[in-house]
Order: sequence, then C-alpha cells, then structure tokens
Amino acid sequence: MDSEVKYTDRFLKLNRDSSVEESKMAYDEMAPSWEKISENVGYKGHILCVEAFDRAVSSNDVYPNPAKDIKILDAGAGTGGIGEMLKARGYTNVDALDISQEMLNLAAGKHLYKKLICAPLSDTHMKEIETAEYDVVLCAGVIVYGQVKPGAIEQCARFVKPGGLFIFSIRCDSYDPVEYGYSATCEKLEKSGKWKLILKEKRELHSTPNEERYRYCYLITYKVLQ
Ligand SMILES: C[S@@+](CC[C@H](N)C(=O)[O-])C[C@H]1O[C@@H](n2cnc3c(N)ncnc32)[C@H](O)[C@@H]1O
Repeated sequence: MDSEVKYTDRFLKLNRDSSVEESKMAYDEMAPSWEKISENVGYKGHILCVEAFDRAVSSNDVYPNPAKDIKILDAGAGTGGIGEMLKARGYTNVDALDISQEMLNLAAGKHLYKKLICAPLSDTHMKEIETAEYDVVLCAGVIVYGQVKPGAIEQCARFVKPGGLFIFSIRCDSYDPVEYGYSATCEKLEKSGKWKLILKEKRELHSTPNEERYRYCYLITYKVLQ
C-alpha cells in the first residue's frame, strides 16, 4: 500500500457551495492516483452497488434474471470499478458517464463500456441521456455534497425505464441532514409514485477513512414505477 498517495487539497476543499467545475477539476487532477487513494481508504462503493444489483436480479420480486444485454448506465463511473464487475458477470451493454474526462480516459483503456459520456450529473435536464433510456442505473460514491446536487437524483430517476432500477450509495453525512435535501428528494419521488424503495441499508463505505464521518453510507435501491 502506498500510504503517501492521498486526496488532494482541491478535493478535500469541496463543500456544499462548490461548483460542478470545481468538482471536475478535483477529479481530473486526482485521476492518475484515484485507484491508489481508493485502496488506501478502503473504498467499497462499487462493490456495494454491484452487491445490491446482484441481490435485485436474484430476487423473484425485484428484477429477476435480466438478459445480459440490458442497457445499464454507470453514472459517475470513475476508472470503471462497476464496469469491471458487470463485465465479469457477462453484462455487455454498459455505458459510463462521468464529469471527469481524465477518469473516463483511464476507464476507456479497460474496454468495459459501450459508450463514454463526459457530462455532469446535475439538477438540470441532461441532453446526453434520453428519458427512460436505461434499464438500470448504478451510481457509486457520486451523489454527495460537494459533487452532486440533490436535484440530480430526479435526473437519474428520469434515465430509468419504468420497471427498472436505480441503485446508489450515498454517504450518511450527506443523506442524514434533512436540510441538505438528498433524503427529501428521494422521499418526494417515492410519495409521487415515481419509484418504490426496495433496499436501504447502512453500510461501511470506507474501511480506513481519512475522517470518521466518511465511514458509512446508505446503500439504496429504488424500482422505478413510472
Ligand atoms: C468516488 S469516485 C467513484 C467512482 C466509481 N463510481 C467507483 O465507485 O469506483 C466519484 C466519481 O464521480 C465523478 N463525479 C463527481 N461529480 C460528478 C458529477 N457532478 N457528475 C458526474 N460525475 C461526477 C468523479 O469524477 C468520480 O469519477
């Protein structure tokens, strides 16, 4: 383990007022060392989200035995952690979206994705993705204050076909404060009948976090209804 490789100052300074541009710069700069940093902090977001996917596809009530060519979006794909795990399971139709071209360039070299989309998840309509374009959207370690606004959750819901899944991890220090708006947005979509909650579990996201408040996340699965 190379313990000298750490989050950059620019990344550590991201906060609720940070712009999409600041988040992009932070990840572009950190891309060459991201996998090392993620190993050093024991990051598990991709593993958790694929675990939730595995659970959904092996449940008769949730999303049983989908075809291997279902259209999947890895939103905030980074260097391809989820893509690698889906490829190992035989899924052949997976796209990657990320705000950072530098992260996507590293993913591209692994030949995991059909299409690479460099665009920010935000609370405004993303023209790169059609409504109901995907069967499943996975989003690990992306929706968090400093990176993605709560309204982006509504965009992610828009990307998914009725009957499909939205699976994501969100750090507890983003989800729990009601005033940040992440939990409220999820609940609003539930009350409006947009989606149904399948799974919400508190899990360890980083086994050796640089700050204790980063240790836990919620692993959440929604089934999109309309
Ligand atoms: C913690 S990494 C997780 C990468 C990958 N999902 C994984 O689990 O290994 C967060 C990723 O989100 C991307 N990101 C940050 N803000 C974003 C935004 N607004 N829209 C899209 N991607 C974003 C970053 O560039 C980075 O690749």
